[in-house]
Formats: sequence, structure tokens, C-alpha cells
Amino acid sequence: MNRITSFEEYKTEYKRSVESPELFWEEQAEQFVWKKKWDKVLNWDFTEPKIEWFVNGKLNITENCLDRHLPERANQIAYYWEPNNPQEKAVELTYKQLHEQVCKFANVLKNNGAKKGDRICIYMPMVPELAIALLACARIGAVHSVVFGGFSASALSGRIQDCDSKIVVTTDGAYRGAKDIPIKDVVDEALEICPAVEKVIVVQRTDTFIKMQEGRDVLWKDEMEKVNADCPAESMDAEDLLFILYTSGSTGKPKGVVHTCGGYMVYTHYTFENVFQYKDKEVYWCTADIGWITGHSYIVYAPLLAGATSVLFEGVPTYPDAGRFWQVIDKYKVNIFYTAPTAIRALEAAGEHFIKPYKLNSLRILGSVGEPINEEAWNWYNENIGKGKCPIVDTWWQTETGGMMISPLAGLTKTKPSFATLPLPGVQPMLVDDKGNEIIGNGVEGNLCIKFPWPAILRTTYGDHERCYQNYFATYPNLYFTGDGCKRDEDGYYRITGRVDDVINVSGHRIGTAEVESAINMHIDIVESAVVGYPHDIKGQGIYAYVICTNHSKDHNSLRKEILAEVTKMIGAIAKPDKIQVVSGLPKTRSGKIMRRILRKVAEGETCNLGDTSTLLDPSVVDEIKAGAL
Ligand code: WTA
Repeated sequence: MNRITSFEEYKTEYKRSVESPELFWEEQAEQFVWKKKWDKVLNWDFTEPKIEWFVNGKLNITENCLDRHLPERANQIAYYWEPNNPQEKAVELTYKQLHEQVCKFANVLKNNGAKKGDRICIYMPMVPELAIALLACARIGAVHSVVFGGFSASALSGRIQDCDSKIVVTTDGAYRGAKDIPIKDVVDEALEICPAVEKVIVVQRTDTFIKMQEGRDVLWKDEMEKVNADCPAESMDAEDLLFILYTSGSTGKPKGVVHTCGGYMVYTHYTFENVFQYKDKEVYWCTADIGWITGHSYIVYAPLLAGATSVLFEGVPTYPDAGRFWQVIDKYKVNIFYTAPTAIRALEAAGEHFIKPYKLNSLRILGSVGEPINEEAWNWYNENIGKGKCPIVDTWWQTETGGMMISPLAGLTKTKPSFATLPLPGVQPMLVDDKGNEIIGNGVEGNLCIKFPWPAILRTTYGDHERCYQNYFATYPNLYFTGDGCKRDEDGYYRITGRVDDVINVSGHRIGTAEVESAINMHIDIVESAVVGYPHDIKGQGIYAYVICTNHSKDHNSLRKEILAEVTKMIGAIAKPDKIQVVSGLPKTRSGKIMRRILRKVAEGETCNLGDTSTLLDPSVVDEIKAGAL
């Protein structure tokens, strides 16, 4: 691995990556095992979009994650699995054991009818079998579609149907903090409307009673007994699908973001090595859930590609108390710790006495991801967790980018609180105004776009290529539009200011306002609703819903409860509005468009400077909304 080792070198490598991107990425790709070398490094056209990296190259990512390491690392720990309950026994998986489990489960998938190209839905908590299941899919060329275990049956069935998954891998139940969640029941409910699913493979985690449907449901344990550990890795084209991951956008239902095998492998590995400056034998811990992109890229694929040792954590930061992260760091002597600002703020609020019992002296690097990290949280993290000695990498990226895009290189790039700092090699950011004109120079602010492809850029949205074009490539011709606002300061450092579209980032989770609105509108008494984000001390953003209720005698408290239940049912508890205001009308333009700008201001607590309201059909609704603001 030709890793960058100084800031000077970063500058030369960055320049090289922009001047000769093909050559630059080819060099990175050459470190891997390919079954056949590529004919051409890159084909691209953002107007379609069509993006191909390592054209006609053949590989299997699991050979690079596992087999390749066996001569040197067979007995090295790949994952330390730390259970939700600290009293329960932890599990260690070496590279050899992980390889064996992956090959065996790949054979289980085959025995249950899975073939190359099939989509397999994975819906489970953070148990070792989750990582094994992803890799087993990749081993046989099946496409995994992981659905975060906190989504509801309705959200799960929508995702299963959208990509036509034939197999679902799940658990009986899940432990999350003090909760015991009936995962298999959720799957059963979802499958009532997914007749195409032929098999459900169930890991027993909580040993709670579950209904097993004859012919459809099988136990992981029983199936693993029927197979051996011999499973050759399927030869995949660099552009064959590796996985689909659903994420929320401004409009409509969540989209299935598609990543492919070759470019994703090269890019996630490159960014992991350079951003974290991972050293052999270090212990790395990313606290994300594998159900999100951070877990896919930086718990499963990149650390394994790098031959790293990781912690895989089943629990939550506050169970049994708010010292859990710190206890786990000391237990495994974690060197690199990667978490989300929302967790940092929650643990800050819990108080320093939860940190006191722990040394935290193994820590070398701290990371942040998922949402803007405010200066106060950054400083707290730096002083209390890093003890002023650990560089913080604030990594900006997205489900669609596959890997980190703007971030310091740990210890090399000078950091600045709340700035993601500089683009990684291969990343060419551009700020544009609303008309799409480039904003040049420093000390400016605009909409963040990327003007050249990097190897892990999304290739399409599953089953709907036009939607991919409309969402990301149509707003500004020939540019990938991120949906984020961004400042570039006098030093050329980037600071992400948050979404400029109708996506809310709640505790680092992306939630589409349109999705929440359609869930609220399912309530029989609600005719219309509008949802916006507002600043929230812990979550980053909270959800504020304005609803029009036709039943005037309805008690607001029960209405609120019913709306929350509706949202939990349609999406999941993560999308529950924090505030619900009943209104008699919404501020609309004469053409019927809701002026969200006004609703956002009121939700933020602003009642004076609401901007121009003269184009509203009925400006009086604004006074009523202001008067009733929560
Ligand atoms: C936001 C998560 C500021 C941003 C990897 C982006 C951030 C969205 C940062 C993607 C950061 C992520 N600073 N904002 N360091 N990282 N975001 O797809 O708005 O779940 O567009 O990917 O999170 O969220 P996603």
C-alpha cells in the first residue's frame, strides 16, 4: 500500500490524482488480487450517467478481504464481537475462522437456491453473522440489500419488493440496550405481502419463541451443519453489482443506491488506509450499524481489505450506562475510534463522571461521521476522549459516494473544529450557486457538487436509472450534486453546513420529509402535513410536523400518539416527529407549492424575519402558525 505519509505528499498525490486520475487509481487497484486485469481504467459520462471503473476486470472482493490475508494473518483477529450485555461472553473471530464461516454460509445460500445476481435481503442486529452474511453473498456473487434492523415491517417489505429479494436472512430477536426486539415477527409481518420470498434463514440470538413457516423458514445453525467450508469465490466483473442500500431522498420512496465490485473495493480501502493511517495490528472500532453505509464500507469491507482488527459492537452507547463506549475502548485497547456527532453530544450531556473510570490511553485517532459536528462537540471529543492528543478526522461522505470524500488525513492534515477540511485524492469538489455557476475562490459558500468520478460513486438507483439521473445529475449539468450546502473558508477548507434539499439528518440518520409526510397522512383524520427539520441539541436535527386535522373535536394528545404510532408503523421509530403542530392551513404559493422556507423558520423559533410572504395564496395562515409554534 503506497500510503501518504506527510501533508506535502498529500498535496502532490492530490495533484496527481486530478491530473491523471486513471493512472492514479490504476496504481491503487494493482495491489489487489484480480482474476483478470481490466482493459481500461475508466469510462464515464455524467449526462446519462454511465460510470465504469476497471472495465472488464474480474475479481471477487472476498478473496481480497479474506483469502489474500490467510498466509500472513490466519490467526489474527478480524473481529472482536462485543455483545449488548457486558456480562455475556464476547466472541473472537480470526481471519481463518471468518473465512471458514463465510465459505460455509455461502454454501448454505447456494443450498437454499441463491445464484449469482440474486438479491438477498439481510435484516438483523449487529451479530457476527451479519458481517458473515454480507461476505457470503459477495462470495457467490449475490447482491446484498441490508435493511437496518430498526425499520418497520412496512419499510422492510417495500425494500424486499423493490429489489425482488428471494431470500431473507434474519434473527429470532435482537438485544438493544434494555430492549428485546422481536425481529422475526417483523419479518413475518413484512412477508405477508412479499410472496416472492422463498427462504428465510434465521440466526438464533435471543432464543425467544418464533413461528417457523414450513418449507420457507430454516435455521442458520441447522443449515451450517449440512455444508463444508469449500466455496470457490465467484468471478465477478468489476461492474457487477456488489450491493444495494436504500437511502432517503427529497422525494418519494427510498432509493436503492447501487455499488459495484471493483471501484468500491479500491476506493474504500484507499480511504480507510489514508484517512485513519491504520497501522498493522492496531485495533479499530467503528460504532455504526452495518445497516447503514458507514457499516458496509468501514466495518465490513475496508477494514478487512486492509487486514485490520476491528471491534463489532452489538449494543448502544448508553447501556448499561453512558460509560459503555469508554469501557469497550479500554477492554480492547482500541487505537482508532470512529463514531457519530449525535453519540458524542449524548455522552457529553451524560456527564464526565462516566469517562473518569477509564484510561482511554490506547486511543490514537478519533473519527466523526454522519452529520455536521458542531464546534462544541468537536472540542469536547478532543479534550475528554482524545485528551488533546488524538487527531480528529471529520469525514464527510454519503451512501452514494461509497466512501469518505472530504476529510483530514489523521495526523497529517491540520484540523479545524467543525471542518471536514480538504478533499481526498481523486475527489474534485466544486461549489455552485443556485443557477449552477461555479463559485470560485475562497471565503465562499454554495451547493456542493463533484465534477469528476471517483471509483466508488453510485452507478444507478436499482430498477430506475432515470431516478438516479434526476436526483444526482440533472440539477447541475455534468456535475454530481450532493444535496449538501458547503462553505470554503479562507484556507480553502471545506465545512459542510447541512442538507439544502428536503432531507433531514436526525441523529445521523437520513430521513426524507416526503416519507414522513406520507406516513402521517395515513392517519384517518389528517388531510395534509408538512415536515421540516429544526436544530436539536443532541440529534443534530429534530423532526417538526405541521398537520391539518379534519376532526376538530379530536384531542391533540391522542392525535399526537396516533401519529407517532403511524410513523413507527410505516417507517420505524427513528422517524417519529419530535414536535407536531396542528394547523388549519399550510403556507402555499398560488401554484399550490408549500413554502417550506417559512415552516423551517418557524420551527427554528424565528418569528420575525420570515422573508417574502407576498406570493402566498393566504398570508394569514402564517400568523396562525407563528402563534401556535411549539
Ligand atoms: C451528512 C453517511 C457534515 C451530509 C456517511 C450527507 C455530514 C449525509 C458528514 C449523508 C460530515 C455525513 N459533516 N455532514 N462529516 N457526514 N454528513 O448517506 O448531509 O447516511 O449528505 O451517509 O450526511 O448521509 P448518509
